Amino acid sequence: MSSERVPVELCKGINGLEKVVLREVRGSSAEVYLYGGQVTSWKNDHGEELLFVSSKAIFRPPKAIRGGIPICFPQFGNHGSLEQHGFARNRVWSIDVDPPPFPTNTSSRAFIDLILKPSEEDMKIFPHSYEFRLRVALGPGGDLMLTSRIRNTSTEGRPLTFTFAYHTYFSVSDISEVRVEGLETLDYLDNLQNKERFTEQGDAITFESEVDKIYVSTPTKIAILDHEKKRTFVIRKDGLPDAVVWNPWDKKAKAMADFGDDEYKHMLCVEAAAVEKPITLKPGEEWRGRQELSAVPSSYCSGQLDPQKVLQSS
Ligand code: BG6
Repeated sequence: MSSERVPVELCKGINGLEKVVLREVRGSSAEVYLYGGQVTSWKNDHGEELLFVSSKAIFRPPKAIRGGIPICFPQFGNHGSLEQHGFARNRVWSIDVDPPPFPTNTSSRAFIDLILKPSEEDMKIFPHSYEFRLRVALGPGGDLMLTSRIRNTSTEGRPLTFTFAYHTYFSVSDISEVRVEGLETLDYLDNLQNKERFTEQGDAITFESEVDKIYVSTPTKIAILDHEKKRTFVIRKDGLPDAVVWNPWDKKAKAMADFGDDEYKHMLCVEAAAVEKPITLKPGEEWRGRQELSAVPSSYCSGQLDPQKVLQSS
């Protein structure tokens, strides 16, 4: 068997950080760094990169990698004494060799199970016991599935409260040619206006300036249409009621050391999240949050065609 066909391979990535490469038989692939439990690459079966990672990303602790799919836990945003978006994205995760079974097992062989448990240092800033299990799987058609299972393992009767996001950076050809469908007419909290609540007006969402909004209680399916690339990303989510939409635009881009000045034109974050209503687990309880990403040719219009069929007929 050639090395290219190995469905799961552990190897060294940038700066010697360990990464796992997933490969599906038809040619799609994904890369997951143990640092952050972070997906940093997702390629379709033509080898085209579908996620954005900044050319200035710093692959070195303690900075989270700028791009891919950082995991925001135990908080999304910037509250209290915890760092912005929590610390899961800058901890080194372990490979979970014996995860508890899933109700339905994935048909794919290209998947990896990771686990994060609090260290003594973590307990000082977030005094809670938990096991955070993350499965990253590539489906036979190249879909990328992330499933998080967080269990409160407190033996002292302590509840575990957190917010969460899959902070996905999608690669787009030109942000001004991009449209997001599935969030129109919904309420959102505007991070650029003190988290004030507004209602989205009009049709699909387009971009002409900085955006930082938390759409609350969204449908489970959101589409990002990239006209220039003739590609549509479809996000399906479960257990994650909210969706954050972020593009820093030019001024914020310049202010970020690990982000190129013009790179905002080529990325868009649409983040499956649980932000408005924090999740609370009693001891022994487990929460599950899942996102499934697919990339289909743009003949697909959200809600009208089954993306799976489009993929099969292409
Ligand atoms: C988004 C937030 O999810 O992440 C923004 O809504 C934030 O407010 C952005 O600026 C990037 O955050 P960070 O910590 O990765 O620079």
